[in-house]
This record gives sequence, structure tokens and C-alpha cells, in this order.
Amino acid sequence: MNSETAPLTKGFDVVCVFVHDKVDKATLKILNENGVKLIALRCAGFNNVDLENKGNIRIVRVPQYSPYSVAEHAVALLLNITRKLYKSYQRTRKYNFTLDGLLGFDIHGKTVGVIGTGRIGKVFIQIMKGFGTNVIAYDLYKDEKASKEIGFEYVELDELYEKSDIISLHCPLTPETENIINRESIKKMKKGVVLINCSRGKLIDTKSLIKEMETGKIGGVGLDVYEDEEEFFLQDYTNSYKRDNNLSILLSMPNLIITSHQAFFTSEALNKIASDTCKNIQEIFNNGECANELK
Ligand code: NAI
Repeated sequence: MNSETAPLTKGFDVVCVFVHDKVDKATLKILNENGVKLIALRCAGFNNVDLENKGNIRIVRVPQYSPYSVAEHAVALLLNITRKLYKSYQRTRKYNFTLDGLLGFDIHGKTVGVIGTGRIGKVFIQIMKGFGTNVIAYDLYKDEKASKEIGFEYVELDELYEKSDIISLHCPLTPETENIINRESIKKMKKGVVLINCSRGKLIDTKSLIKEMETGKIGGVGLDVYEDEEEFFLQDYTNSYKRDNNLSILLSMPNLIITSHQAFFTSEALNKIASDTCKNIQEIFNNGECANELK
């Protein structure tokens, strides 16, 4: 949904939206004029909603559905990069069974830096601990209990950049985290660092990423999200000439894999999203309140 499609909401009490819907000031103005009472987000992140301009409309979200879906996808991207599975998959399908260019590295014994230790970040850390890694993390709000129980250490961002062989992003997109991975932060990282982003595309400044991949500073990248994904992700442009320059450059890079915002996409997560979205709507209309309301 965006301001162009928003007029279609006339006569409806509830509008159900997802991550790529543009619930900005212009869209919200039309929804308010149409008498929409509730916006039900089928997702956790709400950076696409202009809360300050929501007017009379109430907004609910699904804060958690399956942190395992996203954390496991981050691990899938990581293994794809460290073992070059994307390359061997294409190769063996052509009956090429050589190993040249497929040399990987063990994750075991490496230092993994995790930015954002919420629900997804903590599951990712637990999995990484199972691989026998040393995990360091940064979060605005430290979860000391989890740090002791799972066995990871909180450090400042600069230290995380300096020490990590692998960095995975699990914080939300906020004004503070927008482009948190930029030229300056990449410069502080180890040569050959592997970056994983299953959170939000705008956490990474794509131009800096491309530049630093070209210098050889970054060893591998796994992305489930991209800075300007809205126009392309979840759409099929196979037979179109429409392209995005930076996305095309990224896709031409070796040791980089992009999936199209599919980390959440497991049957367990979809079932929970559907049932919790319905529950949220019922709670607002039947009880007048809902714990998952955004205010
Ligand atoms: P959460 O709210 O449980 O955890 C987020 C953590 O980030 C919190 O601990 C918070 O304190 C921390 N944080 C906030 N600002 C920070 C900052 N400036 N620096 C460092 N840490 C900061 O959220 P959850 O469920 O773990 O989700 C994390 C993110 O994953 C979501 O915000 C969303 O962007 C993304 N996501 C991606 C999906 C996908 O399909 N690719 C699906 C679901 C979520």
C-alpha cells in the first residue's frame, strides 16, 4: 500500500499491511479521511509507518513470530558464504565437480560480532555458540542475564568492529542505526570480515559496501535485505529491463549472496503471524486494548 492505493480503503475498518507498504504521512492522511480505524501490521518492524502522523488510526503489529526463522536464515547465508555453497550448487548442476575457488574457512574458533541482542540476535548467538565461536555483542540495552547464560560479552561498537571475523546485524532501523555500516565503520573492521544483514537494508550504506568490497577489505556478504529493496523485492523482473544500479553491482560481486527479504518465511512464522494478526484485531475491537499496539 502507498498513497496511490490508499483510496481503495474506503468503507473498510481495518487495513492489513506488510514491510514494504509505505504507511507515510500522505497515506495516513487518506486512511484517516476514509475512516479507517485500525492498521494491522503483519510484521515486527514498523520503520515504514509514520507514527507521528497516524491521527485517529490505531496501529498493531506482531512483535515476535519466530526469531528462529530469521536467525537460522542468517546462519544459512553465513554458511553459504564461508563454504561457497552458492558456487558449488551452480557448478555441480553443470556436471563440474572441481574444487578450484571453493576453499572456505571454519566458523569454529572465530569471533562473531552481533549488533542487536533482542529476540533474533539472542537466537543467532546461541546457534553461533554451538559452532564453537567466541561471541561479542553490542546493544543499546544490555541483557546481562542472557550474556551470562548464553556466554557472550558486551563490548563497544569499535571493539566489535576491530575484533570480529563475522558481523551479523540484528538491530532495528532507527535514526541511530541508519547506515551504521558505512565507510568509517568498515575501515575499523578486520580485513576479510564477513557481513550478514537479515535486519533492514538501510543499516548498510550500499555505496560504502561496494567500495570496500572492491578494495578487498570485506571477505563476504550475506544480505536478506537491501537499502532500496522496496521497488524490487518480492517482485519478478526476470523479463524486464528495469534494474537498480547498486543492486546490479552487488549481484555481480563474488562472495556475496542476496535473498529477497525471505528470512521470516517459514511455515511456523507464517502461522504465528496470521493468528496473532487476527488476535490483535479482535482485541482492539472486542476489548478496546491490545498489548501489541504501537503508540
Ligand atoms: P527486538 O526488538 O527483540 O531486538 C532488537 C534489539 O536491537 C534490542 O535488543 C534493542 O535494544 C537493540 N537496539 C535498538 N537500537 C539499537 C542500536 N542503536 N544499536 C544496537 N542495538 C540496538 O527485535 P527482533 O525481533 O530481534 O528483530 C530485530 C530486527 O530484525 C527487526 O527490527 C527487523 O528489522 C528485523 N527483522 C527482519 C526480518 C526478515 O525477514 N529479514 C523479519 C523480522 C525482523
